[in-house]
Amino acid sequence: MAVFLDDLEKLKSSAIDEIQRASTLAELDRVKAQYLGGSGKVSVLFKRLVELPKEEKPSAGKALNLIKSELESAYLNRRTSLELASMMPSRPVDFTLPGRRRGLGKAHPLTKVTDDIVRIFRRLGFAVADGPELEDEYHCFDALNTPADHPARDTQDTFYIDHSEKLLLRTHTSSVQIRVMRKQRPPVRIIVPGRVYRRDNADATHNPTFHQIEGLYVDHGVTVADLKGTVEFVFRELMGEDVKIRFRPHYFSYTEPSYEIDFSSPMVRKIGKEWLEIAGCGMVHPQVFENVGYDPEEWTGWAFGFGIERIAMIRYGVNDIRLFYENDIRFLNQF
Ligand code: DAH
Repeated sequence: MAVFLDDLEKLKSSAIDEIQRASTLAELDRVKAQYLGGSGKVSVLFKRLVELPKEEKPSAGKALNLIKSELESAYLNRRTSLELASMMPSRPVDFTLPGRRRGLGKAHPLTKVTDDIVRIFRRLGFAVADGPELEDEYHCFDALNTPADHPARDTQDTFYIDHSEKLLLRTHTSSVQIRVMRKQRPPVRIIVPGRVYRRDNADATHNPTFHQIEGLYVDHGVTVADLKGTVEFVFRELMGEDVKIRFRPHYFSYTEPSYEIDFSSPMVRKIGKEWLEIAGCGMVHPQVFENVGYDPEEWTGWAFGFGIERIAMIRYGVNDIRLFYENDIRFLNQF
């Protein structure tokens, strides 16, 4: 028995040593066959068990099984390392180099629409402004004159991060109006493309996160006529000459008067409607000017906000908003 166990230890250490030194998968498999194969050294010992006295058989069998499984796991570990090593490039590779395929992909349709809108407004002298998606109640609601009991502030509609600190995911880009006006004196001419969040379930026309563009224009003597003229100009440029725009009275707490903008075009008629509501707008409420330290007797201004997905859907004839987020190449390649 002692001799048997002694042999076993020697056998094990030489097997492990050979497994570790195998430098190719073929070599490793040869080592494995030498020890664990049908007539391998370990298998031969299993056959020799019968030569042992009866009372020694169980413990010797146990020792043999243990060694067999130790060698098997040493083999698997080595195999994994060799496989990993064979996947690594032998020299450092720069993965940012251009690939063999021509072309650099395409802009996402939402990016395209946003870029077009930004380009049109820049021609009118507007600058692009930005603000945080993680907002506070002050910029998203209070400063915009939105009362504490307004439904938009409900936890049912808004993702709050922390109620004690009044942190939330912004529900609209209007919060950036406040951030910009608190930082700069009039005149102000900005647009703000960005992502917004609402607690909606996803369906063909809703998604818990989507994109808006906000516009704000503050100067001496700005009127509703400027608002209407600008909106009409921008939509003609963006969607073609055959579009119609209609202003319908509405209510927003940060504008007075307020309107919803309806849009009509051959594409809208194609989806079976005459008018589609696409934006909210109005003349900046004097209270909002007070909140940011502008004198409402001196300055007037207009503001608007619309959904980029909505515009992209009518522009391209897309009937399900979720297509924009699935990143299916077959969909994206069409733009
Ligand atoms: N914030 C509004 C919304 O998310 C859209 C809007 C309405 C923006 C009127 C404005 C505005 O700037 O004046 O539905």
